[in-house]
Amino acid sequence: MNTTLKEGKKLIEEILSGTDRIPQDVTLIIAPPFTHLCPAARLIGNRRNPALAAQNSANRESGAYTGEVSASMLASIPCSHVILGHSERREYYGETNEILLDKIRLALASRLRPIFCVGEVLAEREGSMHFQVVASQLREVLCQLGPEDFKKVIVAYEPVWAIGTGKTATAEQAQEMHAFIRAFLAGTFGDLAASTPILYGGSCKPSNAREIFSQPDVDGGLIGGASLKAEDFLAIAGSFA
Ligand code: PGA
Repeated sequence: MNTTLKEGKKLIEEILSGTDRIPQDVTLIIAPPFTHLCPAARLIGNRRNPALAAQNSANRESGAYTGEVSASMLASIPCSHVILGHSERREYYGETNEILLDKIRLALASRLRPIFCVGEVLAEREGSMHFQVVASQLREVLCQLGPEDFKKVIVAYEPVWAIGTGKTATAEQAQEMHAFIRAFLAGTFGDLAASTPILYGGSCKPSNAREIFSQPDVDGGLIGGASLKAEDFLAIAGSFA
């Protein structure tokens, strides 16, 4: 929940003017607030990069749900991706795995690619519960999908204790959890899990992105605070070079 429309458009324009510095094979996705999505789509025009994501979508298809935005509305912008299950949505807005499964199914039915977030809070990590917590988030949501739907999912691992706190998981902690996520998903989806993009999120910045992204099971990043500065966001995306 950052930037007015004017500020948001300026940020997107700055990002667009730097996309030629990003390696060709890097997919950039921007996820502005709902109010900025249509203007963002116009600014992006028919460029290949960046793709456009929403930060949330409804767990109902359509109808009398005042204030909600449905997956089909987003698809009609057009928007290609939607972030679902961000820890802030789980914590402040009571989004459970059950609600998220409905949201994911509706997103997929509208041909949106879900970016599904998982991650543990500090007490869970300190109590060595982190694998168990992430496993249940995967089991109760992604593992309920059929293989064709699962192929379209992007996973984002976000240790909640690292989001917006300046604390980053070490590259080893990120790799360890990403490898766990991939192996867990392979238990249900077999070889398909090898090509599931698994992003790391949590205080990613230009100074630490290269090391985190160099880990074998880290396929990209979900960038919060640093995405509010075009220079930093582009530098992070350029860390894949
Ligand atoms: P951060 O946010 O980069 O500001 O830690 C990450 C996120 O919101 O997923």
